[in-house]
This record gives sequence, C-alpha cells and structure tokens, in this order.
Amino acid sequence: MEKPVKVGLLGLGVVGTGVLEILSDHQNKIEKSIGCPLAVTKALIRPTEDKAAIAEKYDLQLVHELSDIIEDPEIDIVVEVMGRIEPAKTFIAEALKAGKHVVTANKDLLAQHGSELASLAHEQKRNLYYEASVAGGIPILRTIANSLAADDITEVLGIVNGTTNYMLTKMVTEQMSYDVALKQAQELGFAESDPTNDVDGIDAAYKMVILSKFAFGMTITMDQVKVKGIRGLASEDVSMADSLGYTVKLIGSTKKTGDSISAEVGPVLVPNTHPLASIHNEFNAVFVKSSGIGESMYYGPGAGARPTATSIVADLMTIVNKIQLGTLGHRFSEYTQPTKLTAPEESFSKYFLSLEMPDETGQFLQLAEIMANAGVGFEQVVQGKSDGKKARVVVITHQLSETMLATIKKEIAEKTNFDLLASMKVMEG
Ligand code: HSE
Repeated sequence: MEKPVKVGLLGLGVVGTGVLEILSDHQNKIEKSIGCPLAVTKALIRPTEDKAAIAEKYDLQLVHELSDIIEDPEIDIVVEVMGRIEPAKTFIAEALKAGKHVVTANKDLLAQHGSELASLAHEQKRNLYYEASVAGGIPILRTIANSLAADDITEVLGIVNGTTNYMLTKMVTEQMSYDVALKQAQELGFAESDPTNDVDGIDAAYKMVILSKFAFGMTITMDQVKVKGIRGLASEDVSMADSLGYTVKLIGSTKKTGDSISAEVGPVLVPNTHPLASIHNEFNAVFVKSSGIGESMYYGPGAGARPTATSIVADLMTIVNKIQLGTLGHRFSEYTQPTKLTAPEESFSKYFLSLEMPDETGQFLQLAEIMANAGVGFEQVVQGKSDGKKARVVVITHQLSETMLATIKKEIAEKTNFDLLASMKVMEG
C-alpha cells in the first residue's frame, strides 16, 4: 500500500466531523479504491472551540493558524467546511496559491466567487471540487458534468432546500402553520444558521447558480436569478392548490430557451402526478430534462453530516486519482459558453393567481376583461372562502409571458379594488 495522502480540515463542525467518520468507517474500501489511505492530520479551529476529544479519537492535530496547514509540505489537500464567504474565500485562495488541492461544500462562496476560485485553481494547476455544495448527498454535479456530458440539457428543476421542503410538507399534510414548521425545521438541524437564506429562497438560488454553470456552461450572478421564497405563503393558497390537484413546492429552475437561459427560485404549483410532488420532508431532488435521456430525477438527502461528508470524501478520492495520474488543474466542469439571459417576453408559464375581491356581481367580469385585453385565457377558476363581503378567487391561467403577467398585475392594481394575494408559476404535468 502506498503512503497516505494527507488532508487538512478548515473547520471541525458537524460536517467536518462527518468527514472524519466517513474516512474512518469506510477506510478499507477507500484504500482499495484509490490505492492508498486518506488521513486527516490537522484541523483548523477557533481558539475558543474545544475539539480535544475529537482530535484524540481521530488522531489529528488541532491548529489555530491557516499557515500550520498550508505550509505543511506533507498536506496535499485542504477541505473547507467553515461556511460563509470570509474567511473561507481567503483561506481557499491561500491554500490554492500554496499548492494545495481544495474540496469545499460552500455553496454561498461558489455561487458568488466560484469562477474566480476555479480560475485560480486552474492557473495553479490544482483541483477544486465541490460536489457537496448542491443537494448535499446527491451526486448531481458529477452526474451532470460526467454522465450527462453528451446530453443536451434543456431544463434543471430542483427541490434543493430541505428546510423549506420540510416546512411545505408539514403545511400541506398536517396543516401546520408556517411558524411552527420553521421552528421544527430549525430544531431538526437542516436550516441554515440564519434561516432567512432558506425561507427567502437564497440558499436554493446559490445552488441554481452552480447548477446553471454545470448544465449550460453559463456563469450567472445571483442578481440574475429571480428569487422568491415561501415567507408569508398563505395556507389557504396551499389548500386551494391542493384542491386543484397541485402541491406547492419551492422549486429552483434553470431553463434553456434557444441559446439563452433563465434561472429562478419560487413557490410553484407542481401537479400531483409529477415526480417532484412526491419529494417530502427535508429530502431534495433534482429533475433534469434533456434531449438524449429525456427525463431523469436524482433524489436523496440534501443536508446532514454523513451525506454531505460522503460527497466530500468522494471529491477527495477523485483528487487522489488525479494526483496519481498527473492530470491536475482541470476544472470540475470544463463546459463553458457565453452567458445569455432569456428576455422576460420570451419566458412563458402558466400562473396561479390568488385574489381577494368584493363578493358582488360583476367583479368577475372585470377580471375577465383584464385577462382578455392582455390576451390571456383562464384554465381554471375557483371561488374559495367568502365572508359575505370579500371572496378569495383563484385562477390558473393559460401560458403567458412574464411581461404579460406584469401587465395583468398593473391593470389589477390600477383598475380594480382586488387584492392580488399571491402569484405562483404552475408546472406543466
Ligand atoms: N439549509 C440547507 C437546506 C442545507 O435546508 O437544504 C443544505 O444546503
């Protein structure tokens, strides 16, 4: 057996400890696969942290300075599991400049500075891998980059945030309120430290930026992703959607129209017959439409110590293989093409509109006129609860562009005294 490849960990929280567990529990298979042991010899922690018991259990040295890891000539690979942008970004850049390969699970960082770090790794002839950054335990990036390399992907739709999927599941199946569902999700430990990023769709948007790069070779920025979360989602709308045969899910999507793409995150009505409607609780799934395979879906845990750590260790093993073969500096995904965004007038969908209107004769006619003037037809219309004065009415439209939707919203605001309570996209079955 060859001598061990040594690894330095930046951070020793839940995921970092998971990496130690997976390396230890699956040691035999890992060694047989890559021909040498993988050993974490040092972990960088904050001086205030007490990780002595873990260090002793896994026979590693705790350090407080980055230089103790990146200046150690024995260490080949650095694993960043600290999260957030800084100091993780500087630490990864320093590690690459010091000649280390890097594995990270940091989606915030990759979505915002991924191109810069990938270019730095390429210049330094080092490898940068980040399978765990999207949907934790689901090997989706490698699948798109390798297994679907020959396919022409047209759309990637994902339930890529476990916290919100858990909340929506509980709101639908147990009629749990938004606040109670969020509290439970936090207690179960898959919410971000600040769950704003989960409920406002930002965490899912980070993942869609990364998926857009892998699926279409295009580099989009966070401000080019249309992001809407589930904050304030009314249980009445969730129930109305349910009665119409749909499940509300927080869907991240990136879609190719011609040679341009559009990426967004928002609550979407998913037909109950669609595979994504059956993804419950904290689980994630990524549904890929492509011209070769057709439709395929990848399902699994999107967070959690062991699933995330399993993806990280697979990245470590890939890097060891590349070190052995001397193929260094290739990007995780080499597919690159010019970025072009789809114009709002070319982006079509069916929509669910939830309105509150006076419960009086003729109101409905006003809505029909606005829709007809915009050239939009109704697919379904349902009147929900009425207190005798105001009624909730939900509409599912035929296909319309984002520009047409904006016109309808403006007309409703200017010409009626309806309240547009919610508008959500409706996925085709
Ligand atoms: N907060 C994230 C989630 C964790 O709920 O899915 C994984 O990125």
